[in-house]
Amino acid sequence: MRGVHDILPAEAAKWERVEGTARRVFEAYGYEEIRLPVFERTELFARGIGEVTDIVQKEMYTFLDRAGEAVTLRPEATASLLRAYIEHGLHVHPKPVRLYTMGPMFRYERPQAGRYRQFHQLNVEALGDDHPALDAQVIGMLVEFFRALELAGRLQLQLNSLGDAKCRPVYRERLLEYLRAHAAALCAECRDRMERNPLRVLDCKTPACRPVLDAAPSVQEALCDDCRRHFADVREYLDAMAIPYVLNDRLVRGLDYYVRTTFELTTAELGAQNAVAGGGRYDGLIELLGGPPDPGIGFAIGIERVVLLLPPPAEGREGRKPFAFLIPLGAPALRALLPVATAARASAVTVELGYGDRKLRSELERANRLGAAWAVIVGETELARGEAVLRDMASGAQHTVALPELARELARRFEVERSRS
Ligand code: HAM
Repeated sequence: MRGVHDILPAEAAKWERVEGTARRVFEAYGYEEIRLPVFERTELFARGIGEVTDIVQKEMYTFLDRAGEAVTLRPEATASLLRAYIEHGLHVHPKPVRLYTMGPMFRYERPQAGRYRQFHQLNVEALGDDHPALDAQVIGMLVEFFRALELAGRLQLQLNSLGDAKCRPVYRERLLEYLRAHAAALCAECRDRMERNPLRVLDCKTPACRPVLDAAPSVQEALCDDCRRHFADVREYLDAMAIPYVLNDRLVRGLDYYVRTTFELTTAELGAQNAVAGGGRYDGLIELLGGPPDPGIGFAIGIERVVLLLPPPAEGREGRKPFAFLIPLGAPALRALLPVATAARASAVTVELGYGDRKLRSELERANRLGAAWAVIVGETELARGEAVLRDMASGAQHTVALPELARELARRFEVERSRS
């Protein structure tokens, strides 16, 4: 399938690092994990994200299930998370209710480097609180996540305010008027889009459109007093935390639910797919979805794009090396070693076990190839004595251990080795 990809074991270390860092940073800020289904009623996304957005109009994986209900593979997590917040009455908890989730999202976009049809997000939401200091701390946490990965220096924080239900409609009209007056100088897509979603036109990447769009009225000048104050406070708190940003009054975001503070983290290193994370405030959305009139703010990080920025792990991947390779010689020895392997693994010692049907020499070669530190040999003689031979694969030195002691002995040596490295 186009636009989907496998994450192979060699890459998994980077993914674990990204997800582990997210958990550590988010939890330090008091966020708790919530796990959500990957599909929902289509209606939730259509209402939540906005009927006139590209996501809803062109990019959703929607189908009728066997009962004839329209369902959609989630294109983002915010709508689902708010649905859960409403459904389970989470608003009774102390505000802000802080939640994070991670997992696959689905958008039918044209695949290219850094853009997939199934991709993964780390998603964070803080609900029920509209203080500008919360906006600043949510953004601060996003930056902190990238600092922890040593990527913050390669990213730029873009910041804007889109106004609210009071002042945005006024701006929308003013912008639309301007776009109509300059329609002849705009590309077909802009002309097509402007009546439905004029703010989105500001985002057009076509060079010929830029002069007209760059001269368009700025949303900043249209903010009402409340929005202006809120935004000034957010900026003041970001300054207090020494978080650098650039003001970008052309930052509109692709989802319709945003009001006031919006932001993106961008990089110059990934070509056209330059947004590594994006988010903003969405006061009014919870109510629109049938919940209480709680405000909210959050962001999502694109994991694939973070992974693309990360350097390869310091050492080449060697795969999972077994600590010991257990070599039974014959079926009775295999039966004796099966429970030993189970017990060793229960103590987190990685062991491999032969099947007892090969020559000792070829099994020792295999132990060597697998990179095992120890080979454990049990033949007929050893079995009769109730012993096993432990062979140090590096030096070739051998000694015997009583079979009932074997699993414990392996665990002990494994501990010694681990505390040394
Ligand atoms: P978004 O800007 O649509 O926001 O997506 C957030 C991030 O997901 C993007 O910055 C990008 O890194 C990644 N992303 C999006 N589409 C793709 C794709 N096709 N392939 C690879 N990565 C992609 C949202 O989804 C909002 N729900 C964020 C939010 C949460 N706002 C408030 N709360």
